[in-house]
Formats: sequence, C-alpha cells, structure tokens
Amino acid sequence: MTAKILEGKYFAAQIKEKCKQDIEMLKTEHQLTPGLAVIIVGENPASKVYVANKHRSCEEIGIYSEVIELPASTSKQALLDKIEHLNCDPKIHGILVQLPLPEHIRAAETEILNAISPAKDVDGFHPVNVGKLAIGEEHLVPCTPYGCIKMLELADIPIAGKQAVVIGRSNIVGKPMFHLLLARHATVTVCHSRSKDLANITRQADILVAAVGKPHFVTVDMVKPGAVVIDVGINRIADKKLVGDVDFEQVKEVAGAITPVPGGVGLLTIAMLLHNTVKAACIIHQVNVKALE
Ligand code: GUN
Repeated sequence: MTAKILEGKYFAAQIKEKCKQDIEMLKTEHQLTPGLAVIIVGENPASKVYVANKHRSCEEIGIYSEVIELPASTSKQALLDKIEHLNCDPKIHGILVQLPLPEHIRAAETEILNAISPAKDVDGFHPVNVGKLAIGEEHLVPCTPYGCIKMLELADIPIAGKQAVVIGRSNIVGKPMFHLLLARHATVTVCHSRSKDLANITRQADILVAAVGKPHFVTVDMVKPGAVVIDVGINRIADKKLVGDVDFEQVKEVAGAITPVPGGVGLLTIAMLLHNTVKAACIIHQVNVKALE
C-alpha cells in the first residue's frame, strides 16, 4: 500500500484563508489590523529568503508587516532597545527575531528572545509561553510543531489514545511537539541521540515525528505499517537538493500517510506564524478568540 501524501500547501491554504477572514472581521468590526515585526540582523542569505516570505505572506492576507533590517555589527544593547520599542508599539502585535543571530551576539540569544513581551512572542519561545504550554494552557505555541498538529487535525487523523514517537528534543520542535501531542491525549515517547534501540521504539509509533536534522535518518525498518509519518527535517544535500529526515521513497511504501520534503509541514510554519499574529492581536485587544482556534 502506498501512503497518502499530506501536501502542506493544501493545509496551509486552509489556515491562511481562515486567518484572512478573521482579519477582515477584525478590521470591520473592531478597527483592528494585526501587525507583525520581523527583525533580521546581518546578511544570512537563507534568513533573508525566509523573512521575505513572511513579509509577502502577511501582505497577502492583510497583516501589517514591518521588516527591520539591522547590520551584522548591531550590538546586543541596540537589539534589546529595538525590541523594547516594538514591545510598546501599538501597531505591532507580534515580534519575531529571525535566527540564527550573527556570531558575536549568538551567546546572548536567550536574553534577546526573552526580552520580547510574552504577549507578542509569536514564535512561542518565551519561558512564559513555554511554561503555559507545559501546563496545558496553550497561548502562543511554536509555529512548526503547532503546524504539524493543525495538519493532523485538518486531515482528520485522530491523536487521542495513539502511540506517538517524536525523534528530537529541541526547544523549537521536539519538546513543544511532546506537549502538544500529550495535551491531545496521545501516549508520547521522545527519543534523541542517546536513545538505545531506536528502531524498536519508533516501530511502536502510530504517529512518528522526525525532527533530527539528519538526511534520510528514518528508514523503512523503523516504521510500523500504516503509521502517520511527519517529517520536520529540512536538509540540504549534494546539488543543493532539499531532503527531509525520512527516507521518503522507501517509507511511503509502508506508511499510512506521510509528509513530503519539500512541500510538507514547512509550508505550515508560516501559516501558523500568521495565525499566532492574529491570535496575539485578539488577546491584546480582548477580542474573543474562540473563533480562531
Ligand atoms: N529561523 C529558522 N526557523 C525559525 C523560527 O521558527 N523562528 C525564528 N525566530 N527564526 C527561525
């Protein structure tokens, strides 16, 4: 049996359309335009592409978007001052500092991200939002794992009662993925580089999430027939080709459903950033967000 291919663009389009409708309602009924500020420090070419995509996506659906380009030489204090200014700017409801930061301020990354007001932290990286997620009070949730969950929900793939295995324990994907799956009543195992007998664990999974950062790490022998396989990896191999963490060609022959790379959950990350920006604007202005869930 060949797996159902879960195309990211199909789900991202649904999420963006819903955001667009919510924004139109906010503009007409509440005179509120959600605003996102993205700060990029330095000239990292991949980051520039990501930031341009975020800006374009905001414009497409009616979010006010500011891109703040700072030179690579920017000091930690200058960046903190900029963040503080945006924390107080009423036009801005979401703030994102594009990572990675230049080498000389990379050691201060945590301090810089923690300076973003938790109310405007659309990346969901602030300890307040991490803590809320951990106690089951989801506020602003990291966009990539949140996109994976939204995709499962939109595809009508049940989570409650399932065995879920997450490979990777990063703060950006693995750990929030664990909390999101647990809150939806999956039995969740998190594996990492020191886990023993990995294939034995991953073969138990009804839902397998790969977030390791190693090309073709998940091979067909690691996957239970019929499992839902979500590939969060984006790895560049020879000839600039992009591949995921999953050996897609082999695994699609046994999985029940699988996300491709490119064209899979990566496309949902920006959609969830837009969603988080709209949600932040609603919470800041005390507009009922029920309709946004
Ligand atoms: N760089 C690559 N992915 C991300 C992300 O999700 N958030 C931020 N802030 N920077 C990134």
